[in-house]
Amino acid sequence: MSSPSLLRRYLPWLVLLLLLRDGVAAAAGKGSGKVSAIIVFGDSSVDTGNNNFIPTIARSNFWPYGRDFADGLPTGRFSNGRLATDFISEAFGLPPSIPAYLDTNLTIDDLATGVSFASASTGLDNATAGIMSVITISEQLEYFKEYRERLALSKLGEAGAEEVVREALYIWSVGTNDFIENYYNLPQRRAQYATAAEYAAYLLGLAEAAIREVHALGGRKMDFTGLTPMGCLPAERMGNRAAPGECNEEYNAVARSFNAKLQGELVPKLNRELPGLRLVYAETYGVLDAVVRKPQDYGFENAERGCCGTGLFEAGYFCSFSTSMLCRNANKYVFFDAIHPTERMYSILAQSVIDTTLHVFL
Ligand SMILES: *[C@@H]1O[C@H](CO)[C@@H](O)[C@H](O)[C@H]1NC(C)=O
Ligand SMILES: *[C@@H]1O[C@H](CO)[C@@H](O)[C@H](O)[C@H]1NC(C)=O
Repeated sequence: MSSPSLLRRYLPWLVLLLLLRDGVAAAAGKGSGKVSAIIVFGDSSVDTGNNNFIPTIARSNFWPYGRDFADGLPTGRFSNGRLATDFISEAFGLPPSIPAYLDTNLTIDDLATGVSFASASTGLDNATAGIMSVITISEQLEYFKEYRERLALSKLGEAGAEEVVREALYIWSVGTNDFIENYYNLPQRRAQYATAAEYAAYLLGLAEAAIREVHALGGRKMDFTGLTPMGCLPAERMGNRAAPGECNEEYNAVARSFNAKLQGELVPKLNRELPGLRLVYAETYGVLDAVVRKPQDYGFENAERGCCGTGLFEAGYFCSFSTSMLCRNANKYVFFDAIHPTERMYSILAQSVIDTTLHVFL
């Protein structure tokens, strides 16, 4: 039999197969629903430049931050390049970097596929934000309300804005500063909460209130990111009095216990109680822990010091004072400054969170 007649004979079946395949794919796509935008709340791990527009010293919109960003320019991200949320946005078919809400050069149309309300140095606790006069989570939620109203007045209209809000993926990345900047650093909260566990319970209550508020405003798909092993940040190794240079295992235990309550109690409870909510817990502790313990396995050469300065304490402006000591290749470092991961580490975190958790929204 010649191939043209073969083709004639099987063509109808081929067409039917293709129709079935595309039909099934379309139905699956409809069922899971596409993510319209990535909307971010939190601290420096996800601040893409909001602090540039408020009076605070918790800034990073200068060299060497942003050294490996698209055009080599600093953006206000505390890293040499992009953050985990930028990689996540790209993986969802959205823009490769998430704009900062307060960026005065942007219009509401620029923010309709993603926006960060995050502010470096903030925490769930208002008192944490107060230390460096940055944007509290309550204020980030106020900005989110304003954002919703601006979307409804944009070319999207009421219905379009409602759809963006409903189909967006909300990401929280916050809590580390409440412990390292506030609880373990200043006396006030320690006087009120005798143990870190009691303070963690207070923070989880604040997380719950924030999630409930976004749900009440129409949000449905949400990710609350767990804490990383904060005792292994270079600055915390440096400050470890019991064992200088080693990870602070007390801080790591606090992070694990916070995560266990978040994942085991708060997330299931809110999914039970709030109609239509799809809240997931994103695990990042194990990923960073594995990398820090065996950096060579992941192609890193240094997990104990940041790339900038001595790498032991510098962050923000201090990072810009000692650029003669800047490392050559940040891809070989887990941390860019004494607190914040490099772009390469952020991309590993993003990929892991997508593979283990966020794929349910893809
Ligand atoms: C806004 O855009 C202009 C022109 O591109 C640029 O010169 C300016 O620095 C930008 N301002 C901010 C706050 O990013
Ligand atoms: C935090 O501050 C805001 C005002 O900015 C206030 O409305 C809110 O009640 C405060 N939250 C707590 C838990 O004190």
